[in-house]
Amino acid sequence: LRDRQPIIAIDGPAGAGKSTVARQVATKLGLVYLDTGAMYRAVTWLVLQQGIAIDDDCAIAELANKCKIELTPSQDLQSPVRVWINDTDVTQDIRTIEVTSQVSAIAAQAAVREALVKQQQRWGKRGGLVAEGRDIGTHVFPDAEVKIFLTASVSERARRRQQDFQKQGQPEVSLEQLEKDIAERDWKDSTRKVSPLQKAADAVELHTDGLSISDVASQIVDYYQQRLSQW
Ligand code: DC
Repeated sequence: LRDRQPIIAIDGPAGAGKSTVARQVATKLGLVYLDTGAMYRAVTWLVLQQGIAIDDDCAIAELANKCKIELTPSQDLQSPVRVWINDTDVTQDIRTIEVTSQVSAIAAQAAVREALVKQQQRWGKRGGLVAEGRDIGTHVFPDAEVKIFLTASVSERARRRQQDFQKQGQPEVSLEQLEKDIAERDWKDSTRKVSPLQKAADAVELHTDGLSISDVASQIVDYYQQRLSQW
């Protein structure tokens, strides 16, 4: 008998479609969706809001250890997970370009990762979730039953980000700029010393160029059910 419900780990670079896919998979399977990127974004928002220097590791470590992060699942597929840090609703503020441009530097700090990973593992103790991020299959839940590594070309990911911004009513950003930002964030996320973005040895890689979100979600659900029948 297993001591917890199954876990699906979805990792991959920025803009590969992880959050929308993870949310759909969670809804279809009745699992909880855990957006770990939102947690790194929330800490980044708080650092900026408090005027702490991005390289002040000590102050940031203290803040990451003391802050209270809450994530509330969205009621429907269209609305995002609501995110609170220290009782402030930052659901929208964590998606700004300012936070997005600083989050890699914060996520690279070992103490921040330690604090947030501990919290993620506490939430995942009983399983029953679809966790999405960069280090879920390698580090947060290395024993996840299903591990997916989602990728897409830089140009495809830039196109998707542009559509997201349009939908959110954010100012127009050129594709060229978005491609540059994505390539830079990929580089930072995969070359950092602590838990770099990496495909777990036992993860299934899914390249999503030209596939719709629901195609990708169905493939993952099928794979999950196939694995489930083997346990
Ligand atoms: O998925 P996202 O764009 O919301 O993630 C924001 C940043 O947080 C991204 O630059 C990488 C980092 N991150 C991480 O280092 N580890 C995770 N598990 C999730 C996100």
